[in-house]
Amino acid sequence: MRRSTTADLWWKNAVIYCLDVETFFDANGDGCGDFHGLAERVGHLDEMGVTCIWLMPFYPTPDRDDGYDITDFYGVDSRLGSSGEFVEFLRVARDRGIRVIADLVVNHTSNQHPWFQSARSSRESPHRDWYVWRDEPPTDGPEGVVFPDQEKSLWEYDEEAGQYYLHRFYKHQPDLNVANPAVRDEIARVLGYWLHLGLSGFRVDAVPFLLETEGALDAEELPDPHEYLRDLRALLSRHNGEAVLLGEVNLPYPDTMRFFGDEDGDELTMCFDFIGMQRLYLSLARKQAAPLAEALRERPAPPEDGHWATFVRNHDELTLDKLSKEERQEVFDAFGPDKSMQLYDRGLRRRLPSMLDGDLDRIRMVYSLLFSLPGTPVLFYGEEIGMSEELSVEGRNAVRTPMQWSDDDNGGFSKADPEKLVAPLVRGEFGPAEVNVVSQLRDPASLLSWMKLLIRRYRQSPELAWGRYEVLSVDADQVLAHRADQDGGTVVALHNFADEPVEVTLRLDGLEPGDKLVDLLADGSTPVADGEVKVGLDRYGCRWLRVVKPGEVFLP
Ligand code: GLC
Repeated sequence: MRRSTTADLWWKNAVIYCLDVETFFDANGDGCGDFHGLAERVGHLDEMGVTCIWLMPFYPTPDRDDGYDITDFYGVDSRLGSSGEFVEFLRVARDRGIRVIADLVVNHTSNQHPWFQSARSSRESPHRDWYVWRDEPPTDGPEGVVFPDQEKSLWEYDEEAGQYYLHRFYKHQPDLNVANPAVRDEIARVLGYWLHLGLSGFRVDAVPFLLETEGALDAEELPDPHEYLRDLRALLSRHNGEAVLLGEVNLPYPDTMRFFGDEDGDELTMCFDFIGMQRLYLSLARKQAAPLAEALRERPAPPEDGHWATFVRNHDELTLDKLSKEERQEVFDAFGPDKSMQLYDRGLRRRLPSMLDGDLDRIRMVYSLLFSLPGTPVLFYGEEIGMSEELSVEGRNAVRTPMQWSDDDNGGFSKADPEKLVAPLVRGEFGPAEVNVVSQLRDPASLLSWMKLLIRRYRQSPELAWGRYEVLSVDADQVLAHRADQDGGTVVALHNFADEPVEVTLRLDGLEPGDKLVDLLADGSTPVADGEVKVGLDRYGCRWLRVVKPGEVFLP
C-alpha cells in the first residue's frame, strides 16, 4: 500500500470546523460563550461529521482584534473559562474522535503584553530585541498596511521607548522579532506547551508576515525564513507525530507553494486555497464554471503528504484581493453592491446565504463543490445552517455573531440579558427565528441535513480526499465537471452554476458498457451504453456519480 493511502494522514480527509469560543455557546449565562458551553455542544459537531475543530484565539487578550492581540501565550482568557475547562473540552472532543487545533498568533503580541511593556521601558530591557525598533521609519522596509482604514504606516513612534516599532497589523499589535533566537525559542515553548495539553496542531496566523525579517536586521545577517518554518515543523513532529500546521498564506499559487517546503513537505502541512476561493465567487457571479476551472487547472499539486485547505468563508472579510479590479467589481456588483457590504476595497463582509439571496439550491451547490473539490474542507461556524452576517456590527465582526441554536431568546446562545451579549445576533430573515440548529435537525430538507449527507459521502469516498483529480471538458459553460480516481475507484462530480436546468454529455475514459453511474447525493443510477453518458442537472444542480462495474456491490 502506498504511504499516502494510509489513514495516519488524518488531515487529508478531515472536516475542519472553525469557531470562536466566545460566540459558540454560553453555559454560565454571562453573555459570553465559554469552554464549558463548547464542551456541551461538541455533540452537534460530531453528529454533523466534523473531525477537527479549529479554535480561534482563546488566550488572555484586551480584545481589540477579537483575541488576535494576545497578552499571554500560555493562558486561557478568563471570560472563556479556566485552563482546566479547556482541557476538559479537549477530553470531550477526543472522546468523540475529534481533534483540536488552535490559532497560533505569533507574528505579534498585544502592546499590553508584559514583553512589550518591558521592551518599551528601556533599551537595556531583556525584551527590547523581541520587537523590531528603528530610530526613523525606514524607507526601504516592508510595504503594505493590512488594515488601511485604521493604519497609515507600518511604523509607530512609541514615546516611552523613544523609537519606532514595526506593526504589520494594528498599531496595538507590535510585531515580534523572529530573527531573534530568544523569540524563536519562546515560540517553540508555546508550541510545545499546547501540544502537550493535547492539541493536534495549529492554524498559523499570517505566515508570510511572521517569517518576514526585513526591517529587523542588516540584510547579511537575516536568517532564512523558510529554514525557520522547517525548524518549527520538525519541532512539531517531535512533540506529536500527527500534528499539523495549517497556514494562512494568501499569495499567488507559485509563492504559496514555497510554504509547503520541499517535495516531502517539510514546512506547512496545509495551506488555504485563497485563489480557488476567490475564483469560486467569480464563477458564481458569472454563472460560469471557467474561472474556478482555470484555478483548479493552474493550482500546483501539494507535496504528497500535504494538502490544500478549501473554504467558502472564513472569519475575516471575504477577500477578493487576488482578482483583477474588474473581476472584483463583478463580484461586488453581484453579491455586495452596497458600500456598507464592502471592506478595504478588497473584500465583502457578508456570508454566502445572504449573498445568494437565500437561494437554497444555489447554497447547496456551493457546499457540494466544497466537499467534492480537491482539498480539506474548512467550515466557519454557522455555515452548516446558513447563517448570514449582521451588517450593523462593525467591520469584519459582521460575520462573527453568536451561533444560532434555536428560536429561543438570544437564539439559544445565552440566557443573559440581550445587552450583555458578547456580540449582537443577526436580525431579520436570517435571524434565529428562521435559521437555527434545532429546527434544521428535524427537517430532512434543511441545509444542515444536506451538509451531513455531503460529509458522509465525502468521508465514504476516498477518491475525493486521496485521489488524482481531473477537470473534465463538457459541452456547457455553466457546468464544472471533475473526476477523482483512486485505486480503481472513480467519482465524477458535476455542478451547474446557472439557474436553468441543463443536460451535458460526459465522456469518461475507462467507462465500459455495463458500467453504471450511481448517484451519491440522491437515489438513482444511470446505465452507460458506451464511453458516453448524458447527465441532467437542475437549476444550480449538483450530482456526485460513482462508477460501479458490473457485479460490483456498492453500499450507498
Ligand atoms: C490574520 C487573522 C485576522 C487577524 C490578523 C492579525 O489575518 O485572520 O483575523 O486580525 O491575522 O492577527
